[in-house]
Amino acid sequence: SKGDYRHFMLKEIFEQPAVIRDALEGRLGESSVLAESFGPDAPALFAKTRQIHIIACGTSYHAGLVARYWLERYAGVPVQVEVASEFRYRHPVVAEGTLFVTLSQSGETADTLAALRFAKGLGYAGTLAICNVPGSSLVRESDLALMTRAGPEIGVASTKAFTTQLVALMLLTLALDKSTEATGSDQAGIVAALKTLPDICRRVLALDNNIETLSQAFAEKHHALFLGRGAHFPIALEGALKLKEISYIHAEGYPAGELKHGPLALVDSEMPVISVAPNDALLEKLKSNLQEVRARGGELFVFADENVGIDDSEDDVSVLHLPHVHEAVAPLLYTLPLQLLSYHVAVLKGTDVDQPRNLAKSVTVE
Ligand code: F6R
Repeated sequence: SKGDYRHFMLKEIFEQPAVIRDALEGRLGESSVLAESFGPDAPALFAKTRQIHIIACGTSYHAGLVARYWLERYAGVPVQVEVASEFRYRHPVVAEGTLFVTLSQSGETADTLAALRFAKGLGYAGTLAICNVPGSSLVRESDLALMTRAGPEIGVASTKAFTTQLVALMLLTLALDKSTEATGSDQAGIVAALKTLPDICRRVLALDNNIETLSQAFAEKHHALFLGRGAHFPIALEGALKLKEISYIHAEGYPAGELKHGPLALVDSEMPVISVAPNDALLEKLKSNLQEVRARGGELFVFADENVGIDDSEDDVSVLHLPHVHEAVAPLLYTLPLQLLSYHVAVLKGTDVDQPRNLAKSVTVE
């Protein structure tokens, strides 16, 4: 039941602190991930993993894109990420020691399942399913499975399934991280950040009223542009997908550095631009990208780390500050305001939030 919530989607957004905690439960030690979290066969398989292919569709694909930044940076493993419907019809070249990872909330997405079956014939080292449904086809047919423990997700637009996939992917990153403190591992710092994440998410969800106020600026718009850099580029893609799915406003996600290579031509006062600005190495570059938007008369909405010195002293910029977090977990946190933003825009537009037109919760046909 929806309880006191107006829609399942809103309920599921607010469940995220609890389900993120569940997704971590029993999987973290004092300062490292517990290797047995992935099952008894995992350590042997991880030991021979030299690269990773991640395959998924839709929102799950966006989780895979975030994971690429994490796995390469923190575990030093090369990663490819691809949508299942493309992968399964390519002729991929598989290097020795490649781990094949599928991401799926339902575990029944036709293209993802077909991609797994196809991969199994190609000589991959092993297969891992990151999935929310125990006993689903994807889980049954993979060598290893890690359950995301998001609980049933009723809203067609995926929310808590996405953030718990991100948790699972960070656990995978840490499980594959062979560095030690001596060689610069930040495993202990990331583990500590993961443990505080449920509380910090709660603080971000408490900004709901402010986000609802911001959403008014979008209800009459026909387009929106979402910008991010680094691991937050896929968060921008996911923000755009959420907005188009449930509010039917055309939205695009772009890596902010690509602005002047095309999309800047679209920016005018009718094109709201939403950006996530965590406190990371790309901040200064992002700030100058945002300056480019303002110079073209674009209206900016920025979700920014409280410490980065972005504020709304100017008329054409609205800023909402998020608590500072370890940059490794920031993509999880910055997802939440974008979910709430699209939710409130959809409510204002009066769309069927939980059952958007033309979409189904589980896509079991190609
Ligand atoms: C978007 C959404 C879809 C799914 C996609 C894959 O909000 O829910 O894009 O992410 O259909 O579904 P799963 O994860 O079940 O394979």
